[in-house]
Amino acid sequence: MKSAIFVTTLLSCICLMASAEIIQLPAPNLTEGTTLAEAIQKRKTDRTFSDRELPPQLLSNLLWVANGINRPESGKRTVPAAIAKYAIRLYVLTAKGTYLHDYKKNTLTLVNSKDLRLYAEGRGTMGPAAGAVILMVADMDIFQQGTPAGRPSIPQEKSILWIGYESGSIGQDIYLYCASAGLHAVCCASFKEDELTSALDLNGSLKPIMDVIVGYPPEN
Ligand SMILES: Cc1cc2nc3c(=O)[nH]c(=O)nc-3n(C[C@H](O)[C@H](O)[C@H](O)COP(=O)(O)O)c2cc1C
Repeated sequence: MKSAIFVTTLLSCICLMASAEIIQLPAPNLTEGTTLAEAIQKRKTDRTFSDRELPPQLLSNLLWVANGINRPESGKRTVPAAIAKYAIRLYVLTAKGTYLHDYKKNTLTLVNSKDLRLYAEGRGTMGPAAGAVILMVADMDIFQQGTPAGRPSIPQEKSILWIGYESGSIGQDIYLYCASAGLHAVCCASFKEDELTSALDLNGSLKPIMDVIVGYPPEN
């Protein structure tokens, strides 16, 4: 009997630990903010931030505009992607740790308890000054995988252009959401690639390609 109680307690502890590592975000809510035209008018890079944490609702909205499903019947997303292959996955870097976004379940899975925001750009200062960093990681070989027999494979240089287009669309959606919601943002190509690759244990064809640092404006 005692051992049965022990096993049950142990199992519930393990379940709690597992659930603590997966955060269910609320459904995206995009009923607030400016019009699209106003957001385009306001879109800009602003490198000044408050390090205030971004609340789950805001993160959910941000991740949905960046890479969410907007047509459940087909599973297609808010950004265009060549051959609908969707090469890019999003990581969220925060003070508490680094998470992988699951666009289907709208969850964040903890992959690393370290604060990796310092690797978001060259000097290492902007990331930690902001609420979060959205890191785009691409599968660089996605267009070489699963090519139907008899069809020519996609040349690598084309894949790079197509992935660049997809990441640009994600970046612009994030910029526009930030302009609409009164947040500051900067997209960065000069991040610390080796450090992120190793900290996230990325292997094979997975490559960090771009990030966007996002935060509230500085508090005066
Ligand atoms: C591909 C790309 C890479 C960029 N990389 C960086 C970067 O590493 N660090 C940075 O501070 N800004 C970076 N930027 C932001 C640009 O400096 C910024 O968009 C440009 O100065 C124009 O300003 P605006 O965004 O306010 O129109 C990058 C922008 C693009 C499109």
